[in-house]
Amino acid sequence: MKDTKHPFGKGRLRLVAAVGLVVSGIAAAQSGSTSEEDRLVEGLLAKMTLEEKFGQLNQPPGPDNNTGPQAEAAGLDQVRKGRVGSYLGVTGAGRTCQYQHVAVEESRLGIPLLFGYDVIHGYRTIFPQSLGEAATFDPAAVEHAARIAAVEASADGVHWTYAPMVDVARDPRWGRISEGSGEDPYLGSVLAAARVRGFQGEKLGEDGTLLATAKHFVAYGAAEAGRDYNIADMSERTLREVYLPPFKAAVDAGVGSVMASFNELNGVPMHANAALIDGVLRKQWGFDGVVVSDYTGIWELTKHGVAADESAAGVLGLKAGVDIDMVSDIYRRFGPKLVRDGRLDEKLVDESVRRVLRAKYRMGLFADPYRFCADTTRAKTRMLTPEHRQAARDVARESLVLLKNDGGVLPLSKDVGKVAVIGPLADSRADMLGNWAGAGRPQDAVTPLQGLREALGEARVLHAKGAGVNGDDESGFDAAVAAAKQADVVLLFIGESGDMSGEASSRSSIDLPGVQQELVEAVKATGKPVVAVVFSGRPLTLQPLHDAVPAIVEAWFPGIEGGHAIADVLFGDYNPAGRLPATFPRNLGQVPIYHAHRNTGRPTRLNPDGKIEKYTSRYLDVDNSPLYPFGHGLSYTTFRYGAPKVKKAKIAAGESQQVEVTVTNTGKREGDEVVQLYLRDDVASVTRPVRELRGFRRVHLKPGESRVLSFELKPDDLAFYDAKLQRVVEPGTFTVFVGGSSEAKLQATFEVKAQ
Ligand code: BGC
Repeated sequence: MKDTKHPFGKGRLRLVAAVGLVVSGIAAAQSGSTSEEDRLVEGLLAKMTLEEKFGQLNQPPGPDNNTGPQAEAAGLDQVRKGRVGSYLGVTGAGRTCQYQHVAVEESRLGIPLLFGYDVIHGYRTIFPQSLGEAATFDPAAVEHAARIAAVEASADGVHWTYAPMVDVARDPRWGRISEGSGEDPYLGSVLAAARVRGFQGEKLGEDGTLLATAKHFVAYGAAEAGRDYNIADMSERTLREVYLPPFKAAVDAGVGSVMASFNELNGVPMHANAALIDGVLRKQWGFDGVVVSDYTGIWELTKHGVAADESAAGVLGLKAGVDIDMVSDIYRRFGPKLVRDGRLDEKLVDESVRRVLRAKYRMGLFADPYRFCADTTRAKTRMLTPEHRQAARDVARESLVLLKNDGGVLPLSKDVGKVAVIGPLADSRADMLGNWAGAGRPQDAVTPLQGLREALGEARVLHAKGAGVNGDDESGFDAAVAAAKQADVVLLFIGESGDMSGEASSRSSIDLPGVQQELVEAVKATGKPVVAVVFSGRPLTLQPLHDAVPAIVEAWFPGIEGGHAIADVLFGDYNPAGRLPATFPRNLGQVPIYHAHRNTGRPTRLNPDGKIEKYTSRYLDVDNSPLYPFGHGLSYTTFRYGAPKVKKAKIAAGESQQVEVTVTNTGKREGDEVVQLYLRDDVASVTRPVRELRGFRRVHLKPGESRVLSFELKPDDLAFYDAKLQRVVEPGTFTVFVGGSSEAKLQATFEVKAQ
């Protein structure tokens, strides 16, 4: 940023001068061993009134807030009085500079504000919905998408994103499954770290960086019955094995903040959960960043029934270690009196204030409060650039999953005569963005209809909507059938609308909504070949569609370049290789269904007469297997795997193991393969999943090309929590499975020796 362009240069100098005085004063009084950060923070803290302290812990909504129940935006008079530490939803270089100016120039201590916003899968350049990004199985691509989001958002004055959302989710009824990385803690951990690196860049505070937030801590994805905000009730083991690991990965990657979750866990609401926030997150893991409440999360403690009134809710929140009160306005209103009445220890409050000030320091705001907003040209030059659009197209192509392709219907030849483009999602720009689309605009989005017209020319593309996403109106069917009859192939664009997943968007049925399956049947009856492209923010129950059409592509919500990416895949300009980050069930009754399940004492087996044994763990009316398993995704080429080889037949506990596998592209097209490695601890002192993901690699292979891939299994990859919840590696045999999905069959075994 150039100082010459700085509209409030004088103010900045004033602050820097003030801070300089504080720093030198404190330095004189102290031994000199403390860092500049400590001196600055302690210096300010020593000057703050109780009201100003609670002001730092207060995060009201701003004028651009677009989430949650209506809440009144806090005005600048509050900033002037030092009663606001950060904002949810103040964006734009001009506006953030205006607010910052008031904080720095007109409040007593001149402490800069932090501006937070939900930058989830892109800011202006919208990438695929996070679940779609996860389907790339490509951490580098996911990191790059987050990097671009940070560059764009920070050019618009934003300092802080409430992402990555790292909640593991195993119930597709829960609409927020779309915001995360799906069902698997290992994949979720790898992508959590990638996104943190992407948002925060090399060093926080540098140009183009955002303070990241791992959310929602914790077990929010385990909402009972998949209903948003519902309770979570689970064993300590499941919490540690499944729900905590992505948060740990984010902390290890240096995430600057963590958001508490709306749910209660085993009877304790997370905003009052000292054992997990102060205990596990801070003390066990050493997280030294800031913890922010979710939207009115502190106030909701009164609704959970653990706080008699708002004051009590404030006490619980602060004691649990929730530093910042988003929207409830409870800390600000009640905090000072609670301290004066002896209900809250000021030392505890100081700890929270320190963490907030440190976050501001780490974002470089004390050095230059206007570093993210002064240069207003950046919002124009850094957003939606051709490079960013290209990256969005690349990631969208990588996210598409070819679920089914009977008889090699896909890819279509560009010599195909006419195509009928049918369905409610064929030409809906807004739906391409999905939910939580930052500053994304529908007019930026390329729909499949547009992408196909560009690829084939207008004349060869017939279009009929056929039906809406929801509702029972079949009046468009005739036009759809007529278009299908005139075409050589039918491309159906069906599924959910973008707002049917995300927050407060749980569904009790995950079938194709409305009369879309009927539309499929009507079009199919023409006898024309039909290819379905499905949009969804969750796994859907696609059995009827699977039975009806030969080829299906899962497109999630692919972002602004979705239409191009889809055309690339349908016509073979790009060979799809996306993989499912969550299991697709056959029907809703199978839910929860996930690949890393336990075996039970009665796994399904066949009788000598070939029938399924009755007294086994199964349903009478549906197979146990999913429609499409975790990790599934087809290609236009074929890959052959050699037998996996373990480096050592026996290792000691505490030693690492190497697994090697050779993968060959045996088909005629180049393409990516997602090589997956799963592990089973064959016999252990407590039950272990039938297999757990422990490695994956997306590799590009030319026809005939072979690659030898080597995976390292570290001691912790072999470890689990024993009956006393101690993390151990036990002696015995382990089985490694390698292949292109969680149903990989090729295996090798090795032994961990007894000590
Ligand atoms: C959501 C969070 C989000 C916050 C601020 C809440 O309703 O649960 O994920 O970060 O709003 O927009």
